[in-house]
Amino acid sequence: MGLLAGAAVLCATGVAMAEPTTGRPVFDQVSNMFQPVSVPAAKIRDLALLVLAICGGIFVVVGGLIAYTLIRFRARPGDEHREPPQVYGSSNIEAAWTIVPVIIVVVLFLATARTINELELKEPPESALQVTVVGHRWWWEFQYPEYGIVTANELHVPASTPDAPRPTFLWLESVDVAHSFWVPRLAGKTDVIPNRRNTLWLETAQPGLYLGQCAEYCGTQHAHMLLRVYVHTPEDFARWVEEQKAPEAEVASVAAGRDLFQRTACINCHAASGTVADGTFGPSLSHLMSRETIGAGVAMNTPDNLRAWIRDPQTMKPGVRMPDMKLADHEVDAIVDYLVTLR
Ligand code: CUA
Repeated sequence: MGLLAGAAVLCATGVAMAEPTTGRPVFDQVSNMFQPVSVPAAKIRDLALLVLAICGGIFVVVGGLIAYTLIRFRARPGDEHREPPQVYGSSNIEAAWTIVPVIIVVVLFLATARTINELELKEPPESALQVTVVGHRWWWEFQYPEYGIVTANELHVPASTPDAPRPTFLWLESVDVAHSFWVPRLAGKTDVIPNRRNTLWLETAQPGLYLGQCAEYCGTQHAHMLLRVYVHTPEDFARWVEEQKAPEAEVASVAAGRDLFQRTACINCHAASGTVADGTFGPSLSHLMSRETIGAGVAMNTPDNLRAWIRDPQTMKPGVRMPDMKLADHEVDAIVDYLVTLR
């Protein structure tokens, strides 16, 4: 039943798109676990439908018997003076209400065990992409050891086709509290626990944007710990990797902003390639402008929103770890002018 409640919650969330006036994300695409596009998500949907069908059958039988009994044996005039026939013990009825539930539980158990086995025992093939996912309060870090790429909040993976299978295997880790990684159309919800590595895989042939979010309460901004997974064709994915690996182009006209960025406390928490910044508490800013959102999905990544964010992150995302840096307006502008060159 947890599945159902979760599905109802996820039906209410959707894709973050730019809203013309405020640039705040609005939700207009359903992220529905009953519309899977990935192998593990499809297996989970099938299991959920089986459980739903069995539970629905039980509901109909039990509800029907109750309704029948209420109507058939309702009080009638003259009933006050006589008792209905009393039944003491019935081996048949007792056998039925013992054996039938046992069979139902065994069927549910076996079906669930089979799905769990298929999902958890899958070994990564040679061709698999491995990504380390690190949960932070309140954002996601994605590391691609194979390519030396580190990015945040927006996970890019290749599509996997029958002639070129390339599933993605995620290693889930947390640096602080328990989080949970859930992109309903791609894979089942998996907890992200400190001092432990959980794994999760996804495999889809369908390029697109799939949405999810942290599914374990992790503090004030749990609701703004959104996930975006971009599935690319193999060629597009290779292009994305090359762009992420490329060094940032040094733009002479924003040298002032870059210097200011390097002189402020920004660099204690953020990394940016080509600068002295190598902090890891906050998301890496390398290739920042290749991301569609900031603040783990709290707003679209526009220069105006970047400016508002740096001026006072607590207004956009109350409780976020990033403090107000108390920069003057011209300093904020200079830093944003620099940041928007990080492509
Ligand atoms: Cu992270 Cu909820």
